[in-house]
Amino acid sequence: MNILILGSGGREHTFAHQVAKSEKCTNLFVAPGNAGTGAIATNLAISVNDFDAIRQAVLEHKIDMVVVGPEDPLVNGIVDYFKADPDLKNVMIIGPSAEGAELEGSKERAKEFMSRHNIPTAAYASFDRDSLDAGKKFLETLEPPYVLKADGLAAGKGVLILDSLEEAKQELENMLAHSKFGAASAKVVIEEFLDGIELSVFVLTDGMNYKVLPTAKDYKRIGEGDTGLNTGGMGAISPVPFADEDLMKKIESRIVLPTVNGIKEEGIDYKGFIFIGLIKVNNEPYVIEYNVRMGDPETEVVLPRIKTDLVELLKATSRQELNRLKLEIDPRSATTVMVVSGGYPEAYEKGKKISGISDISGSVVFHAGTAIKDGQVVTNGGRVIAITSLGDDFRMALKKSYQNVEKLSFDRMYYRTDIGFDLSQEGM
Ligand code: AMP
Ligand code: GLY
Repeated sequence: MNILILGSGGREHTFAHQVAKSEKCTNLFVAPGNAGTGAIATNLAISVNDFDAIRQAVLEHKIDMVVVGPEDPLVNGIVDYFKADPDLKNVMIIGPSAEGAELEGSKERAKEFMSRHNIPTAAYASFDRDSLDAGKKFLETLEPPYVLKADGLAAGKGVLILDSLEEAKQELENMLAHSKFGAASAKVVIEEFLDGIELSVFVLTDGMNYKVLPTAKDYKRIGEGDTGLNTGGMGAISPVPFADEDLMKKIESRIVLPTVNGIKEEGIDYKGFIFIGLIKVNNEPYVIEYNVRMGDPETEVVLPRIKTDLVELLKATSRQELNRLKLEIDPRSATTVMVVSGGYPEAYEKGKKISGISDISGSVVFHAGTAIKDGQVVTNGGRVIAITSLGDDFRMALKKSYQNVEKLSFDRMYYRTDIGFDLSQEGM
């Protein structure tokens, strides 16, 4: 099979790495890709949202399967675009239709979906510009902290958690009346604050059947001890040590099953990944968000633990035959540490020469923001490289990741040294 992966991050390099291992894969392409994908696949200089150029590439390279990495093209309807085109409709495409992608593309739609299907989540109300005053009054009825979420996609920045009522009212106004997050904050969901520890569960569904993939926990803040600005993710661990059998049973019966059944009952075309962000409050799981794709850097720890051939899994997803496959998971722990450019997630420089990649041993190097310049691997983004390791427990895996991270260097390189720090507080 000829396979095209859309995206350019660590997630897509991990997909490419796993897909390339499969005997089922003949030719592998990544668009636009990075220096890491370029070493194992053919990179195509095409943007993930340029559907016409993707169409042309699919036909030219006789692509049998497209795996969509990021959410943007899904929310923009790439799956629907394929289905509506006589030349593309038989190409397998992994990801939901635009309707399914609303689970991530609209916080309000996601909340409505959860309430229709009795899926446990924080209580909420949503407001638009015309109901700004009602929104402020609603905030007065809540206890701090106040959770405000821009309805639409806001590049991971659209959630504000505020301690002061006055500030919450002001930010609500900034979002609704002054377009703080552009069109994404034309509506705002105000939520009850849930106090607990977060984890993520990943599901692969063909719209009828599903497989629960390994759990993971990511570390989103830039600073040690989970402080400072939110990033795309500074590291991840799989499995989540506190996701014991009891919690997983609750998650599957109260959240995963009703989500897949909801998709089925509502006739939503969904053949792809569901990334469920959860919060555990007193041992009870609640959904904080759906994403309609895999996470980054969660993919860097989830996929390396899946022993079942990834291409077989994706093919079965596309053919609605997931029930025929058995999922085999590596019982070891996987960790990844993300190495980033100084300044990230704010302004940072690109084009810095990266050294030490070839010295890494016993871990896998997943490129995120890298490119080749004059035959050299250079930085090309905020998140630069993720170092993934396997070990008998997460501490052993982390030790390997950190030993290898120390071999890398580039100007203003930064990484968090405390990935997994909160797990000991959970008694793990
Ligand atoms: P989201 O983009 O919905 O994942 O939200 C970003 C982050 O905000 C989450 O990872 C949580 O840390 C936090 N968060 C979101 N919703 C809530 C909530 N209802 N209660 C507490 N924290 C929340
Ligand atoms: N690591 C969080 C995300 O991919 O959304």
